Amino acid sequence: MTDTPGEPQPPAANPARSHETIVVLDFGAQYSMLIARRIRELNTYCELIPWDAPAERIAGLDVRGFIFSGGPSSVYDEAAPMAPQWVYDSGKPILGICYGMQLLAHQLGGRVGPGAEREFGPASITRSTPAALLEGLPDSVEVWMSHGDRLEELPPGFVSVAHSGNSPYAVMADPARGYYGLQFHPEVVHTPRGKDMLRNFVRNVCHCKGGWTAGNFIDETVAAIREQVGDGRVICGLSGGVDSAVAAALVHRAIGDQLVCIFVDNGLLRSGEAEEVVTTFRRNMHINLVHVEAENKFLAQLAEVTNPETKRIRIGNTFVRIFEEESRAIEDARFLCQGTLYPDVIESGSHGKGAQVIKTHHNVGGLPPDMKLGLVEPLRYLFKDEVRRIGEALGLPEEMVWRHPFPGPGLAIRCIGEVTKEKLDILRRADRIVMDEVRDAGLYRDIWQTFAVLTDTKTVGVQGDYRTYGYACAIRAVVADDAMTADWARLPHELLARISNRIVNEVHGINRVVYDITPKPPGTIEWE
Ligand code: XMP
Repeated sequence: MTDTPGEPQPPAANPARSHETIVVLDFGAQYSMLIARRIRELNTYCELIPWDAPAERIAGLDVRGFIFSGGPSSVYDEAAPMAPQWVYDSGKPILGICYGMQLLAHQLGGRVGPGAEREFGPASITRSTPAALLEGLPDSVEVWMSHGDRLEELPPGFVSVAHSGNSPYAVMADPARGYYGLQFHPEVVHTPRGKDMLRNFVRNVCHCKGGWTAGNFIDETVAAIREQVGDGRVICGLSGGVDSAVAAALVHRAIGDQLVCIFVDNGLLRSGEAEEVVTTFRRNMHINLVHVEAENKFLAQLAEVTNPETKRIRIGNTFVRIFEEESRAIEDARFLCQGTLYPDVIESGSHGKGAQVIKTHHNVGGLPPDMKLGLVEPLRYLFKDEVRRIGEALGLPEEMVWRHPFPGPGLAIRCIGEVTKEKLDILRRADRIVMDEVRDAGLYRDIWQTFAVLTDTKTVGVQGDYRTYGYACAIRAVVADDAMTADWARLPHELLARISNRIVNEVHGINRVVYDITPKPPGTIEWE
């Protein structure tokens, strides 16, 4: 760091700004982010913004169309969220989904009323009129409904395109204005042709050509990083996870030796991970790497702390403080590179007012306000699957690109209650067994995340002729497309049996193993 550090720098310009963009207005649906991901899968840039964001929020973006998400409200609720006038004034196409469709109808002069019964689950819709949105689809398709209110009278200018048993207007269209409404959810997998409908909207209605590709992203991001950092040096925190690895590789490609990576070994990593990080980044990637062994500092900060959010904040603060300390030794270090992803940004509530903080993500929420380094966050606009594609395109090793996500606070949030070295060591041994067995079973790539959790419950057991009193260990394995929703993995019973046997036999201190069968929602992936 320079002796006179400047003000924190603004984040680099979003490299996506030169791309055709679809903007999703978030009306509070659980699956709003999924809509954005689906659009990105069509090689089209997409941003999710709160429904009440001002027009300036999208200034500089090449917006080609809007999507109104679903949401829990009824248009007749007193405080029902409404689409802002600036969106209609833009003259761009709009696709309303579920609540978004009712809203579109309501605001444009149609009539919405309570449905005879709530329609939830699979339904079949039948086309009555050709429409750009359903081009290339059969006359009848399966869709996923989830709504109470329904449209009773179309707004002027609209025609009904398809109906379902319960909705006379399951799809409505005003092709002249490029306005469309879907009473169901095209973004979920239960609407098998939903992606085609979204593609029709993006390509045929909004005329996006689809230039949002890994190659373009890399070129543009490299240019944006060079512009942002000039001749300053960038420090990057490596965690061993895919996000920081891809972020570091991108920054390295942009500025080479101006990048110095700092690997803070916080003592909260998995078994063998610290050694692996050092070898991989020094040997394979030839990146300047400073290895800081800081286990004691972190454990001291965590002594007697049981609250998960306090753990996160303390770990986040300690991490950044160590960075600042280390960075003082690096002349001209002016920036901190982080592997923050788009879901972190959205889940931390920093994408707009009113969004609820679910967990304070270390990458976003834990930074102390007095931090003196500017931020370089080249993945801030990406979803995880996009990061993996970028990682592959950058030539990173496969095992790194496909590594399961690992939270910044590490094992501290998998060690329930107080975190001690002894408990961490027990957890590491159990976790290693889970990982090895899942890999050996050839299931690693099919699973989003799998790990052991050390509960703070001790239970009675019997081993040989002895009564034991040890920790209960939980195994978590989830399948997911992203971390917003997840389901517990149906691991084969034989695999679970092997994991359980090995843990109780090989890990001193654990005498019971349970399998977590909670989906997200209502559970979260991590236990804390
Ligand atoms: P949850 O537990 O909220 O986790 O379902 C969703 C995803 O986020 C990861 N996670 C974190 N990552 N800092 C991180 O960097 C955190 O504090 C944190 N908490 C959860 C979690 O592993 C999962 O991939």
